[in-house]
Amino acid sequence: MKKLNIAMIGYKFMGKAHSNAWRQVGHFFDVPFEPVMKVVCGRDEKAVEQAARDFGWQEHATSWEEVVKRQDIDIIDICTPGDLHLPIAVAASQNKKVVFCEKPLANTVEEAEQMLHAVESNGVIHMLCHNYRRVPAIALAKQIIDEGQLGRIFHFRGTYLQDWLVNPDFPRVWRLKKSSAGSGALGDLVSHSVDLARYLVGEISEVAGLLETFIKERPAESGSEIMAPVEVDDTTLSLIKFENGAVGSIEASRFATGRKNYNRLEINGSLGSLAFNLERMNELELYIEQGPNSGFRTILATGSDHPFMNGWWPPGHIIGYEHTFTHTVLDLLRAVENQTLPTPNFEDGLRNQKVLAAIERASGSRAWETV
Ligand SMILES: NC(=O)c1ccc[n+]([C@@H]2O[C@H](COP(=O)([O-])OP(=O)(O)OC[C@H]3O[C@@H](n4cnc5c(N)ncnc54)[C@H](O)[C@@H]3O)[C@@H](O)[C@H]2O)c1
Repeated sequence: MKKLNIAMIGYKFMGKAHSNAWRQVGHFFDVPFEPVMKVVCGRDEKAVEQAARDFGWQEHATSWEEVVKRQDIDIIDICTPGDLHLPIAVAASQNKKVVFCEKPLANTVEEAEQMLHAVESNGVIHMLCHNYRRVPAIALAKQIIDEGQLGRIFHFRGTYLQDWLVNPDFPRVWRLKKSSAGSGALGDLVSHSVDLARYLVGEISEVAGLLETFIKERPAESGSEIMAPVEVDDTTLSLIKFENGAVGSIEASRFATGRKNYNRLEINGSLGSLAFNLERMNELELYIEQGPNSGFRTILATGSDHPFMNGWWPPGHIIGYEHTFTHTVLDLLRAVENQTLPTPNFEDGLRNQKVLAAIERASGSRAWETV
């Protein structure tokens, strides 16, 4: 089988998830290429060497600048904080690599534009890792909506709640610095809900928004008495209008006590509704209006005819978070084979970034903003 050599930059949370996906995809799906886990890159020699051993990479490296130039590398997989997405993606595309990048695409609209320009002008395939599109229940929701089963869509209601910042002693990590993360709950969580809203309902045209930071300074490092400013939002709320006339709301927080990764959405249409909650990710709630006594039913989206499930287990044998990344790299490999552009890609990333920027502007102007 033909081989594709992967280089992954960053090896912590997403690096672990992506490593697992590259390792598993060929064991469960018919892949057009054997993905070879060639080299993992980080800054700390000892730690990245350990990561290579733990996750199954053949080599380790400490300079992404050198890795992106290597002749033997086909795909650059970016799993770093947001401020590095632009330089790595631009250099990778100049070296004619396929670029696979974690979300949000960039820290600003301008950066996202530069990234899209780089991949397009260098003619390379690009993909953005909004993995939730490839939860089977979400892909099933997409089919149901596209078939017209919900009729005209009126509402999208997205909620993405976590609580890891409630403790004021939690240090000011990179996710709380504007220079490295761009924004807080907005880029981290709202970007996922915006991606799902665009995927399932359509383009967003106008927004109103509110960004709030509850705890304005935190220990500069774990246990430190030196305080550092929190430069990003702890929570974001927004109202959205879609081009097709639907309306909606997206709320994201890192202060929703008790909620760990509560990524929920509900869509209401003229013929029915559907609802999804990532913490029960194998299930899709579906309501189709059928007169008296019709109500929501729960579909266990594990049937062999449900999206992506034919690669896994017999019906009813549930899958988990990590599988969504396997599905994502599967579609990337297929796109490379067919020389097509997978979705979501950098164009989606730019559109997403424009929605995020409009929400941030609206929070400042206290007025509706056009995307
Ligand atoms: N798809 C999702 O659901 C999802 C979930 C979490 C994070 N993310 C995104 O993934 C990206 C990474 O987030 P994370 O949670 O994995 O962060 P993390 O802090 O767990 O890992 C970041 C990694 O980047 C490495 N890194 C930083 N600077 C580097 C440099 N100069 N050279 C090489 N490596 C460097 C760090 O050493 C670390 O290994 C972010 O863009 C984030 O928004 C996506």
